[in-house]
Amino acid sequence: MDNKFDLIVIGGGPGGYVCAIRAAQLGLKTACVENRGTLGGTCLNVGCIPSKSLLNLSENYSKAKNNFNLQGIEISDLKLNIKKMMLNKEKSVQILTKGVEFLFKKNKVTYLKGKGSLTDKKEVLVDDGKNKKIYKTKNIVIATGSAPTSIPGIDIDEKNIVSSTGALSLEKVPESMIVIGGGYIGLEMGSVWSRLGSKVTVLEYLDHITPGMDGEISREFQKILTKQGIEFKLDSKVVDLKKAKLNIQVEYEDNKTKEKKKILADKVLVSVGRRPFTSGLNLKKAGVKTDDKGRIEVNERLQTNLKNIFAIGDVIKGPMLAHKAEEEGIAVAEILAGQAGHVNYDVIPGVIYTSPEVAAVGKTEEELKKENISYKVGKFPFLANSRAKVNNETEGFVKILANSKTDKVLGVHIIGPHSGDMIAEMALAMEFGASSEDIARTCHAHPTHTEAIKEAALAVDKRPIHF
Ligand code: NAI
Repeated sequence: MDNKFDLIVIGGGPGGYVCAIRAAQLGLKTACVENRGTLGGTCLNVGCIPSKSLLNLSENYSKAKNNFNLQGIEISDLKLNIKKMMLNKEKSVQILTKGVEFLFKKNKVTYLKGKGSLTDKKEVLVDDGKNKKIYKTKNIVIATGSAPTSIPGIDIDEKNIVSSTGALSLEKVPESMIVIGGGYIGLEMGSVWSRLGSKVTVLEYLDHITPGMDGEISREFQKILTKQGIEFKLDSKVVDLKKAKLNIQVEYEDNKTKEKKKILADKVLVSVGRRPFTSGLNLKKAGVKTDDKGRIEVNERLQTNLKNIFAIGDVIKGPMLAHKAEEEGIAVAEILAGQAGHVNYDVIPGVIYTSPEVAAVGKTEEELKKENISYKVGKFPFLANSRAKVNNETEGFVKILANSKTDKVLGVHIIGPHSGDMIAEMALAMEFGASSEDIARTCHAHPTHTEAIKEAALAVDKRPIHF
């Protein structure tokens, strides 16, 4: 094999593989190095995709158990088969990771299996465990993603004390589970196991869940999850974990009273954030600069301090989201091909795939206040949306924040059914610089959940029709 490339991408996750495909489409001779054995990174292998499979299946189970009877669908012998559920999840993962491999072949991206590291600013060493080979390249993109963080002194064994990876593969439903951290992972995986029958308790350090989320949505979200049976202990800092014979003891400190308390559970999920994964890349020796949080420093062109080395996704600043990494991957490929690659960081949607889903794009009310931007609010509850009503899914609301002077939409926050899909319309509107009036004057199909968006836009001008 020829070992000279225009671009070598290190990391085959959503950022890296998308970057490699786009670069190849644009005529660059491209290779992608991946160590995992399968492409797709954390997202496809042990993140977004398997968790969505379990979220979907556990929601179906929970509906069949708790809701169907009330709606005239009577099931008398409902059984949970965790093994089958896990197999279903694994099959989806396999199909999708193989799919990326197929896309590499289709686009003529060379797939280099092994661990990549920098030996020089124009050389990448690939070590597959048996052989080491050096490849020459004009440009390098680092897309090595992130890894779970833990609490000092706590050893994640992926059996009883698990990260998101272990939480995706439990062999049976634990009677009780403590989730440390009320963020994206804790609430999604906590929901899965709670729906399947675990008693789930979330310990969160802050006085609210989902840091960074619009406060009103976060409070509503916590209320809904509490109704579903998840218990929350806020202002609680986990300080220690001890494995006993039959269970695990978690010690936490009440931030206000400083009182130390203990609780027991069968399993503990540690979901206190993720850190950029750069170990073994040889960054220091190659001269690539990182910041105090271990993230690779890049400029607005996603270029590191070395001008032919770029970095994208979870290894740089910004939200750790697959779609943000993908956008960056495409931008870098286009920049390298001489085009004007660009990412609009003001319009990156975020979704928590619980039930109901929570989705947001743009600024929160808290951010607008902090930035002294005067804004108007339009809200519409799903309780007044006909489709949500017939489907018996009336929790939540749509909230649109628009500039009080120009009416330009600054942020949209939705908690409710299908909000993860609906937020795409709002991201598109914001990309086009829409005003709330533009949205209010757009015809939305009836009866759909999206009418709640139109009504919230009308509510910005205090003229909703159905509320
Ligand atoms: P996170 O940053 O969302 O939440 C971690 C939480 O743990 C925070 O609320 C923090 O205050 C709390 N915490 C930290 N130390 C603690 C302690 N000692 N005791 C109690 N609480 C403590 O991190 P998470 O949930 O681990 O997710 C990691 C990343 O993965 C996020 O950046 C997220 O964007 C991404 N992700 C995205 C998903 C999606 O888009 N649906 C799904 C899963 C993950």
